[in-house]
Amino acid sequence: MDPKNKIDQLTDLLHQLNHSYYMNNKSEVSDFEFDMKMKELELLEKEFPQYKRPDSPTSRVGGTITKEFQTVKHKYPMLSLGNTYNEQDLKDFDERVRKVLVSGSELRVESEEKMPQLSIFGQAEKTHNSQLTTHNYEYVCEQKFDGVAISLTYENGILTKAVTRGDGVQGDDVTNNIKTIKSIPLKINSLNLPDEFEVRGEVFLSRHNFEKINKEREDIGEALLANPRNAASGTLKMQDSSVVAKRQLNCFLYSLNGKKLPFNTHSDSLKALTSWGFQVSPTYRICKSIEEVMSYIHLWEKKRFELPLDTDGIVLKVNSFVHQDQLGFTAKTPRWAISFKYKSQSAVTKLNSITYQVGRTGAVTPVANLEPVLLAGTTVKRASLHNANEIERLDIRLGDFVHVEKGGEIIPKITCVELSKRHESLTKIVYLSHCPECGSELIRQEGEANHYCPNEEGCPPQIKGKFEHFIQRKAMNIDGMGSETIEALVTKGMIKDMADIYELNTEKLNQLERFGEKSISNLLKGIETSKEIPFRNVLFALGIRFVGLTTAEKLANHFENIENISKASLEQLLEAPEVGEKIAQSVIQYFSQEENLKIIERLKNAGLQFENEARPAAESNKLEGKSFVVSGVFQNFSREEITDKILANGGKILSGVSGKLDFLVAGENMGPSKLEKATKLGVKIVSEEEFLLML
Ligand code: IVH
Repeated sequence: MDPKNKIDQLTDLLHQLNHSYYMNNKSEVSDFEFDMKMKELELLEKEFPQYKRPDSPTSRVGGTITKEFQTVKHKYPMLSLGNTYNEQDLKDFDERVRKVLVSGSELRVESEEKMPQLSIFGQAEKTHNSQLTTHNYEYVCEQKFDGVAISLTYENGILTKAVTRGDGVQGDDVTNNIKTIKSIPLKINSLNLPDEFEVRGEVFLSRHNFEKINKEREDIGEALLANPRNAASGTLKMQDSSVVAKRQLNCFLYSLNGKKLPFNTHSDSLKALTSWGFQVSPTYRICKSIEEVMSYIHLWEKKRFELPLDTDGIVLKVNSFVHQDQLGFTAKTPRWAISFKYKSQSAVTKLNSITYQVGRTGAVTPVANLEPVLLAGTTVKRASLHNANEIERLDIRLGDFVHVEKGGEIIPKITCVELSKRHESLTKIVYLSHCPECGSELIRQEGEANHYCPNEEGCPPQIKGKFEHFIQRKAMNIDGMGSETIEALVTKGMIKDMADIYELNTEKLNQLERFGEKSISNLLKGIETSKEIPFRNVLFALGIRFVGLTTAEKLANHFENIENISKASLEQLLEAPEVGEKIAQSVIQYFSQEENLKIIERLKNAGLQFENEARPAAESNKLEGKSFVVSGVFQNFSREEITDKILANGGKILSGVSGKLDFLVAGENMGPSKLEKATKLGVKIVSEEEFLLML
């Protein structure tokens, strides 16, 4: 079959399998078979990029690099919404709507004269045959999602363009990044689909994913992302779409535009979007009166915290498109919609002092100590100032009065300084120059937001932080050892490095005050059990900078054991999946220190796991009796993954090329001597693709 047909066939098949899986909860093939089909399509698309379809399911995993995002003009301008903060404003809005809809359309004529370009806005181009009389208008209430606005264009059912709002007239083409969002259909299979239409919505990072990402960043000592909205916006502008895919963005859609669309009301178009497979938040309601709107607002003011993402209010839209046309637009906003913003609870209080906290990696975080103030039912005394840039941005000074807000998030934030209350004697803050814990001079690397204390070995919070990292659940999971125990053990000088933990015994622990027999036996049991923790967690526990749990897992899978990792060159480390320059350098730096090697040796003697467990379960016996050597760099798999596949399918791995060898699986950059030897001995040389076909 020619490559174009094969690509088409695989694309369609994968769409169909995905559809059965997600829509009908039916797996028609095994996960392995599905992955193989995906890999096959990926390989073909790499070889024949001209045949890759815009709806290719391989786009979900990313892999494209966008050096510069193209500017695209919106077909229909992306307007903003008028805001209200109180119920009276909302009643006034309803009055204005009623006046136009009940007593004539003079306002609309006026608006069209002022803003002729707005007549191209989508809604105006829909066909209207509404039976609703102007007297009984209704609203649709929706959440006001706090994310990033996006415009998606579909042509013949296929997503062809995704553009950010930008300045409302033109935005950035972020199509490749948007294609990684699983809830956005790449292709719609529906009868009676309009040839071309545009869908708008809000891209967001769920609170859950936001916290997960920040936890991972905390693990590896990277500065935290400020909030889910900024994180979503930053993610959409990332150059590497495979990194975007990992962030797992999501999207709620809330409007449909296009020529001659067969809907009369906004709620009907939302229903159509849902039936076409778009994710529309089911929280919208049709409200027949402003009183119903008010109860929707009151309901969601509390319930909104149960939603997976932050919202900052509700949006009220007149439902009928005929009515929307009658109402028209002002200069920047529609007259048929408005948003009601929840007042984020705020208060003004005095900044008494700033303290600086030092974390496990030595990163310094400034914290504002405030005059206690009551906010949303709790007393606020402290707020994070993140880093020196934030202090600079706020131009905050000791003794200033500041506005503190508490929105959806639990942690209060300082939004601005009340300049009218500033005393003229207050001077700019000079950022801390030395570590508040150990006195070392702080350093700030270029491009880093945070200052760091470089005294890893001697700075108390860094020492304690490293032990806390080591014993945590995702690492050695040592039951019976909490932060207080660590504090006591460190203070008494009983643990100076990780290996000391495994040399603790009843006699030593008896010296701890308020640490009874039961606690001692629990702790010793916890330490003993931790010796069974798998290698990847042990590797993570070592606390190598930038090596979070995911990276530790990749390294463990790729290199098998600690020896291989410790001896790996920069190039070899870079061959491991998802390992970049920064991580590779950090690993090399870690293993170049004699001290670390000694600790590992002692941990090994104590019985910790420093190599992978047994191989994965068998999949088939297709390769039985056949021997393999795997060499070079592959496009889609690591060497480790190919080796695993060989073993799982009954094959054998040989240590080198010899007359006994059946197959050499050859990737790129393979040593020429190996290739030459294999050719001479008549060993069959297979590419990655050919190997996949063998399976
Ligand atoms: S409708 C003509 N509906 O709010 C107005 N917008 O201030 C079209 N937003 O840029 C927008 N949730 O990013 C609409 N349910 C919702 C929304 C929503 C959030 C954002 C959107 C827009 C901004 C307008």
